[in-house]
Amino acid sequence: MGAGPAGLTLARLLEVAGIEAVVIENRSREYVEHRIRAGVLEQGTAELLRDAGVGERMDREGIVHHAIHLQFDGERHRVPLSDLADGRSIVIYGQTEVVKDLIAARLASGLPLLFEVDDVSVHDFDTERPRIGFTHNGEQHELECDVIAGCDGFHGVCRDAIPAGVLETFSRVYPFGWLGILASVAPSIDELVYAHHENGFALLSLRSPVLSRYYVQCRPDENLDEWPDERIWEELQIRTAVEGWTLHEGPILEKGVTGMRSFVAEPMQHGRLYLAGDAAHIVPPTGAKGLNLAINDVCILAEAVVAWCETGSTTGLDGYSAACLRRVWRAEHFSGWMTSMLHSLEGNDPFDLKLQLSQLRYVTTSKAAARSLAENYVGLTTL
Ligand code: APR
Ligand code: PHB
Repeated sequence: MGAGPAGLTLARLLEVAGIEAVVIENRSREYVEHRIRAGVLEQGTAELLRDAGVGERMDREGIVHHAIHLQFDGERHRVPLSDLADGRSIVIYGQTEVVKDLIAARLASGLPLLFEVDDVSVHDFDTERPRIGFTHNGEQHELECDVIAGCDGFHGVCRDAIPAGVLETFSRVYPFGWLGILASVAPSIDELVYAHHENGFALLSLRSPVLSRYYVQCRPDENLDEWPDERIWEELQIRTAVEGWTLHEGPILEKGVTGMRSFVAEPMQHGRLYLAGDAAHIVPPTGAKGLNLAINDVCILAEAVVAWCETGSTTGLDGYSAACLRRVWRAEHFSGWMTSMLHSLEGNDPFDLKLQLSQLRYVTTSKAAARSLAENYVGLTTL
């Protein structure tokens, strides 16, 4: 259920293993392919997509990065990720592009992928014959399944269908959001910059040699009308300024505000219903982990389903949630830590500010601290 990165990647992995799946999505293809989301793929995520035969355009158009920058006190410090994390790197390639590639691959294989379904409901997942009810093109359908994968995002129906008392949820809502823009201008720096500033956090990212993706910290309920393009550029200029470097401006193609939260629902399964990706957990975007966690979940789920189909063993399925949650909680910690180190916090407590600056100085001067950031950022291999 859901044609985001989780649902589409799972369907692809099952296809490769010769297992039938139907993907149902309540939005249109147009909508799903134009939703602007994050764009950092851990090396392991890029490898998985490549191995699943959907990495061709990513390898052509994605940009491999070996470092990020942390900026504070008006100085920029390069964190050489690959030197610190055994040569591993990240690929800058928009989540939107990953989704387009997965949809194209599924349609090319002639496999079922239904957009604009309505009235979706899940039933009997505590039996061996779970069912999904939905309407499509005005007709009512019922799908009998062996397994339902709830890849329907944070606002989907699968998590809420699990009976009360089964799930334990953990959450933290941050008192700020990110205002993100996509601008038609060459990136002014070819690596990511995470900038701490007293006006609030800013992030310089990119999508291609001619498209820049920039963010400024704002209120979670920020009204975009209060942010004409000039104000966005002005804040970006202030927050990312360093001597001898210029931030080039250009036409803004898209802008949007995202609130920030941390959320985990445990266990990520009940009977024959398995939650994956944002349906089970949310991280604040500061660690760039959301997409990577979603892909990791479905990789574990696909392996478990394949083992069950081939051998009858349910060991993988039974251990699905526990296996996913190890990486989920690591990412929750890392993303929460990056967030609290870089954002202006409520009340602007001067003590908090001193702690942030001390921590930033530490990760940019101590190899041990930098290594910890780097191995988390490129994706831990030891979990
Ligand atoms: N029925 C069918 N589909 C649904 C339903 C429903 N009732 N409710 C939601 N969906 C669809 C959404 O329209 C969306 O396309 O499920 C899909 C969920 O996709 P994502 O939200 O992209 O979630 P996921 O695949 O888990 O990917 C996680 O997305 O939000 C980012 O930062 C996050 O990068 C991470 C990634
Ligand atoms: C992005 O390019 O959209 C992006 C990059 C890094 C992040 C979050 C988003 O931490």
